[in-house]
Amino acid sequence: RKRVVVFISGGGSNMMALLAATEAADFPAEIVGVISDKASAGGLAKAEAKGIPTFVFERKFYAGKAEHEAAVLAKLGEIAPDLICLAGYMRLLSADFIRSYEGRILNIHPSLLPLFPGLHTHQRAIDAGMKVAGCTVHFVTEGMDEGPVIAQSVVPVLIDDTPETLAARVLTVEHQTYAAALKLVASGKVSMRGDGSVERLSSETDPAGR
Ligand code: GAR
Repeated sequence: RKRVVVFISGGGSNMMALLAATEAADFPAEIVGVISDKASAGGLAKAEAKGIPTFVFERKFYAGKAEHEAAVLAKLGEIAPDLICLAGYMRLLSADFIRSYEGRILNIHPSLLPLFPGLHTHQRAIDAGMKVAGCTVHFVTEGMDEGPVIAQSVVPVLIDDTPETLAARVLTVEHQTYAAALKLVASGKVSMRGDGSVERLSSETDPAGR
């Protein structure tokens, strides 16, 4: 089983969904640690209650981004994960960091990338008059929310949606999508080559299994 460290900044519902998925005996990955940049992240207690080691690295205790990342990388060096899953980790990783785990970092973003990368994604989808929204799990590359897509799911946008109601609907499909994407990567069915292209040994990138 591939060893996975999950990065969070908040409530950690995606982290918990990954944890639940990895509890299946035949799942090709296990979660061996959780790293947060926020001591207040609600997901920390949830991970600890499941017996997962957690580590907090708050940016404010480091002189700069490089020092903060060096501390995180040192911890990762001890844990030696095969994969890193960003799950609501609200901090951009540097190019150097990403290079250290080339092709081994996954992220979930609550939009149908390449539409609406970055912050305020639900407000922007509503403002654009979108009739569908969704989530994307992708490999992390240097450009924010730009890496190749592993899996996506779609939900409708309703006429009275607010960013909050849309976010909640998208979140419900994030959980299954992230678990399905992790399974594809951990089992080697989907991988990213050094040139950033993706190799798919399976077409089962639809979490509904169609
Ligand atoms: C999720 O909606 C995730 O897609 C989003 O933050 C939320 C975290 O929720 N991530 C981003 O916006 C990344 N830019 P969770 O802590 O309950 O998983």
